[in-house]
Amino acid sequence: MTRLGEHLLRRIALDGPLPLSEFMAAALAHPEHGYYTTRNAIGRAGDFVTAPEVSQMFGELIGLWCVVVWQAIGSPGQFRLVELGPGRGTMMADALRAARAVPAFGAAAEVHLVEISPVFRAFQKRALNDAGLEPTWHDDFSTVPEGPTLLLANEFFDALPIRQFRRAVDGWHEVVVDARDGALCLALAPELAPEALIPVALRDAAPGGTVELSPLGCGLARAVAGRLARDGGAALVIDYGYRERACGDTLQAVREHAYADILAEPGQADLTAHVDFAALAEAAGGGGAVVFGPVTQARFLESLGIRPRGEALLAAAREDQQDEIQSAYRRLVHPEEMGTLFKVLGLAHPSLGDLPGFA
Ligand SMILES: C[S@@+](CC[C@H](N)C(=O)[O-])C[C@H]1O[C@@H](n2cnc3c(N)ncnc32)[C@H](O)[C@@H]1O
Repeated sequence: MTRLGEHLLRRIALDGPLPLSEFMAAALAHPEHGYYTTRNAIGRAGDFVTAPEVSQMFGELIGLWCVVVWQAIGSPGQFRLVELGPGRGTMMADALRAARAVPAFGAAAEVHLVEISPVFRAFQKRALNDAGLEPTWHDDFSTVPEGPTLLLANEFFDALPIRQFRRAVDGWHEVVVDARDGALCLALAPELAPEALIPVALRDAAPGGTVELSPLGCGLARAVAGRLARDGGAALVIDYGYRERACGDTLQAVREHAYADILAEPGQADLTAHVDFAALAEAAGGGGAVVFGPVTQARFLESLGIRPRGEALLAAAREDQQDEIQSAYRRLVHPEEMGTLFKVLGLAHPSLGDLPGFA
């Protein structure tokens, strides 16, 4: 058992079982022992690889998306370019490099990064300082200053803590983390959960059905939407997840590129849940933004021109680099890789007629 696991066992002995959301929050973000606070998890030597790390094409296309949307909102002389959970800073660095084609964009962009991990903050500082940029960091979105905003979030919402509810014969119960024989285990809270928490369409699920809710994710989507509706701008949420509300247990742990036990070593494995895009879209609509998609990552990237960009890279590449470019293209868009599971949701101020990538 890890030190965080021992700490959680003591907490359960004192206060009783924890909702899954509290377990996840501690496992990922505990200031001393949390998964994200203690390591560089991304890359071949880490636990998983994200789209910006697969290929520069990803960040470059996102950068050009930002330029087109910035022009559509009237090319403001100053705006907030915000990224939630930027990891190693690769996507922002690639995006701003591609955007150099329109120098006024870079001059107007004030870069704000929302990041809890000191390890990743150091990576981001290096990546962006090397490109001559001085971002500002925030612990959460609420402190990002007002003003026209373009916001990006790749594989961020899947890392936010979820609550799970399971249907039993007598109704819905919350899934909690309890202790048995000195180890953590999953259990159902004995009391019934308020039925109002369960989405209407799923309330009559058969016993055994699981519903996942992301109160933090939905609260954040509403806050971002409120900001866009008030100050102007747009946002992109890119993540793996599902379009329609459905029952299912999607909580997973990943360590060294393989699935791991969720409870065995808290703080040592990445914990994520698939994003419920319908719930995010509803929350963002409630916050006043117009919602686009979700569309698949393949469709979004193809519509932004990943194929010609890949061909241009291939044309300029040495022979020994060609396989890598081709396999990166496949990884990003092929339906058996990231192309279909990953989806893109767009949020925008109601005055924006269309967003690139969603036609
Ligand atoms: C899966 S990584 C994705 C990194 C990056 N977007 C990419 O695509 O490579 C999740 C990122 O979100 C950060 N993060 C996780 N939970 C967070 C939270 N609650 N608030 C701010 N950042 C968080 C992590 O430290 C990490 O930078």
